[in-house]
Amino acid sequence: MATISFARGVPAPECLPVDELADCARVALERDGKTILSYGASSGYGPLREWLAARHDVEPGRIFITNGSLQGFVFLAQRLAVGKRVLVERPTYDRPLKILREIGADVVGLHCDDQGLDPDALEEALKAGEKPAFVYLIPTFQNPSGRTLSEERRTRIVELALEHDVLLLEDDPYSLVRFEGEPLPSLFELSGGETAYSSSFSKTIAPGLRVGWFVLPEPLERELELAANGTYIGPVLLGQAAAYEFVSRGLFEPHASGRRLLPLGRARGRRRDRVARSRGGSRSDLREGNGLRRRTRHAAPRVQLRLGRRDRRRRLAASGGACCAGIAARAGFRPRSRSRAGAGSRRSSRPVSS
Ligand SMILES: Cc1ncc(COP(=O)(O)O)c(C=O)c1O
Repeated sequence: MATISFARGVPAPECLPVDELADCARVALERDGKTILSYGASSGYGPLREWLAARHDVEPGRIFITNGSLQGFVFLAQRLAVGKRVLVERPTYDRPLKILREIGADVVGLHCDDQGLDPDALEEALKAGEKPAFVYLIPTFQNPSGRTLSEERRTRIVELALEHDVLLLEDDPYSLVRFEGEPLPSLFELSGGETAYSSSFSKTIAPGLRVGWFVLPEPLERELELAANGTYIGPVLLGQAAAYEFVSRGLFEPHASGRRLLPLGRARGRRRDRVARSRGGSRSDLREGNGLRRRTRHAAPRVQLRLGRRDRRRRLAASGGACCAGIAARAGFRPRSRSRAGAGSRRSSRPVSS
């Protein structure tokens, strides 16, 4: 019998941009080889760090780039969760569970349903027992359930975390891999940048690059830099520089938004056709999760690549965000006033001694 692994999402080989990355790696080496081939900054390749900072609208000092986002999770767990209580969705991604158990964390799984994590279960767990080191969740296309947390619940969960002064770690490698339906704001956006966020190019460019990143409060970012420095000195800069070249050429958006991922989308479409036919309907009658909807509504494939400021304000206002913005201000998060390292900017980063 064939085994279907729910362990991780692996891009189909035909979706990997092999030729483009080969050229990106060559150009990156020619342009910045002396930096890339040295021991580098533990926080990651400077230009990519700036690009990610601009994308998330934060200072570069809050961006920590690691050899895959899982490596960052290890550092974070080792720093915050040894012997402590950690709240997670039930079920959740197998690797964080394994990592947390190995360091002796008390892992508490919270009830989830079709709309994702149940905020009442979170509230109950926050009120009872020791304050958790953090709450780990995958709000969009959760691994392994595939569920997406509803917008209403996102807002409530962010409010609960802020109210209880607990760190939320949002693992978000999949939100750009969307074939249909409306993208939702991240918990990070809803919190006004107060929660921790991680993502990765593993699903949107190539997992073999091993480039993942975290957006963290600056003091925590610095602590993780020290952990990285004490473990591998500096991350693999060649992968990061190739990824930077890739995004600088403007290839990321079209790639992530489906040109390359289309084969996956088509396969999924055919699968949905079969499911719908078996229930006497058509593909457009299916909701995400394959439940039949009553009224047929065509959902055009769309990918949210980055919420613009206006969009974000509109969403925040619509979801009670005035309160989040207020909390952010109280917590001392200032709006940024610095020039953006936009796509196309080519910079060298200086090597940093270990
Ligand atoms: C929820 C989740 N987070 C993170 C990852 C791993 O990302 P990376 O390849 O950057 O370590 C995966 C991989 O399947 C995943 O499912």
